Amino acid sequence: MIRVEDLHRAFGGQRVLRGLTLQVAPGEIMVVIGRSGGGKSVLLKHLLGLLRPDSGRVVVNGTDITHLRGPALDRIRERYGVVFQGGALFDSMSVFDNVAFPLREKTRLRSREITGRVEEKLDQVGLAGMGHKNPAEISGGMRKRVAIARALVTEPEVVFFDEPTTGLDPILVNTIHHLILGMHRKFRFTAVMVSHEIPEIFGIADRVAMLHDGVIVEQGTPDVIQGSANPIVQQFVRGDVEGALRPA
Ligand SMILES: Nc1ncnc2c1ncn2[C@@H]1O[C@H](COP(=O)(O)OP(=O)(O)O)[C@@H](O)[C@H]1O
Ligand SMILES: [Mg+2]
Repeated sequence: MIRVEDLHRAFGGQRVLRGLTLQVAPGEIMVVIGRSGGGKSVLLKHLLGLLRPDSGRVVVNGTDITHLRGPALDRIRERYGVVFQGGALFDSMSVFDNVAFPLREKTRLRSREITGRVEEKLDQVGLAGMGHKNPAEISGGMRKRVAIARALVTEPEVVFFDEPTTGLDPILVNTIHHLILGMHRKFRFTAVMVSHEIPEIFGIADRVAMLHDGVIVEQGTPDVIQGSANPIVQQFVRGDVEGALRPA
């Protein structure tokens, strides 16, 4: 479904991606872990076509998107849903209009159909009847739900989640993970998620990839990652998220 081949990307002199290779299979939940500032969001932005690599390729469903632009890139992005880091709702719009936004942007659906789809999606994320609220009036956990509803409302083939639970307390982290898992069971999209939530993500990932020093140092099922002999992975999985993993 998604193939990342030998991706290199530097900003100024800072080499963030240093030959990153990764494959995501159709319908799986792939979770990318790694320390803060390690390049996880930069990787997602390459998958979205928002950043271009210095070298290497991103292939989506057999199409090399690395150098696509304009309408050709838009056609790929139409099949994507994105939950950006921080949720990033439009504060000036109601919950309803936030969720309706991708349908209004990407489809030619009539307003009655849009209303139906938005209400259905709000119901699926547990926010039935909340469409009239403003993002500022609802809790952090509810805002994440709105962001998820917005990402899924077009029924995308691929959904990207950039730290969808950051800033939530542990109970809400689990609630949101269960929501994502439930939606995944129902709609079977391919998911690429960036997360810091160790050990919670091991309960929802089909596979996990650890990004370190610009490359994927280990990937596999949660069991493989948790049992990895690689000291960098071990340390991260034990919860020492920063510690000795900080660059020298
Ligand atoms: N557009 C940009 N311009 C310059 N530096 C950037 C840009 N985007 C990211 N970086 C740098 O790349 C590194 C990785 O960032 P990021 O991918 O956001 O890390 P994270 O793994 O926490 O998501 C950071 O040092 C960040 O400052
Ligand atoms: Mg990030």
